[in-house]
Amino acid sequence: MAEKVRIPRHIAIIMDGNGRWAQKRGLPRTAGHAAGAETFRKIATYCKNIGLEHLTVYAFSTENWKRPKEEVDAIMALLEKYLYEAIEKMERDGIRLNIMGDISPLSPKLRELAVSTSYISERIRGFQVNLCLNYGGRDEIVRAARKFAEDYKSGKATELSEEGFANYLYTKGIPDPDLIIRPSGELRLSNFLIWQSAYAELFFTDTLWPDFSEAEIDRAIAAFSKRSRRFGGI
Ligand code: IPE
Ligand code: IPE
Ligand code: MG
Repeated sequence: MAEKVRIPRHIAIIMDGNGRWAQKRGLPRTAGHAAGAETFRKIATYCKNIGLEHLTVYAFSTENWKRPKEEVDAIMALLEKYLYEAIEKMERDGIRLNIMGDISPLSPKLRELAVSTSYISERIRGFQVNLCLNYGGRDEIVRAARKFAEDYKSGKATELSEEGFANYLYTKGIPDPDLIIRPSGELRLSNFLIWQSAYAELFFTDTLWPDFSEAEIDRAIAAFSKRSRRFGGI
């Protein structure tokens, strides 16, 4: 890696482009998701090795239910497979796993796996992967507002501040992302971390997620290192 790079504490990635990757090869879209899952494994390991504290990945959005059932089922099956493996290996690899999103409409098996991984994570210190599953930024904010309203009614909360509100989000206790990466050439956030991204640096690349590599992370970090983050100051 180039010299004088600043490793961000928290990188977030919109894992996009699986379908186009498959279509380009004349394969079914589901093959793209399988390839994308491999890329995720590789990139998570790399991010741990370079000393990142948090890697947050967008795996399935609250809007992705609009897709054909076969595609949704295939994505859920891949997530199940990944979580099974994670349960076996996360303690050995030192990877904490935190699922962010509304898991209630997921299959009982997936919900059970999500509970197990969070239970195992309590014993692990260090690098954390936040897997956004049935996650939507607007949904997250509305849920947080509802929870705050309940606490306010019961007297558990009195006033609302930015810091206080953040404690009602899935990302409670997690630093805001320093750098958000979106592959596949799309230039939008698609409802990802819309509260937390307020001062994130953005990095876009045309590479489709299954082709994404460690070198691409290095490129994003090198670009990040050159940015001047002012947070409204001078
Ligand atoms: C991202 O890849 C994976 C999910 C949204 C689950 P896409 O499936 O969106 O791939 P493209 O954008 O159609 O190429
Ligand atoms: C964003 O990708 C969601 C995930 C990567 C999980 P989409 O492919 O769903 O986003 P749009 O529809 O192109 O905005
Ligand atoms: Mg897409």
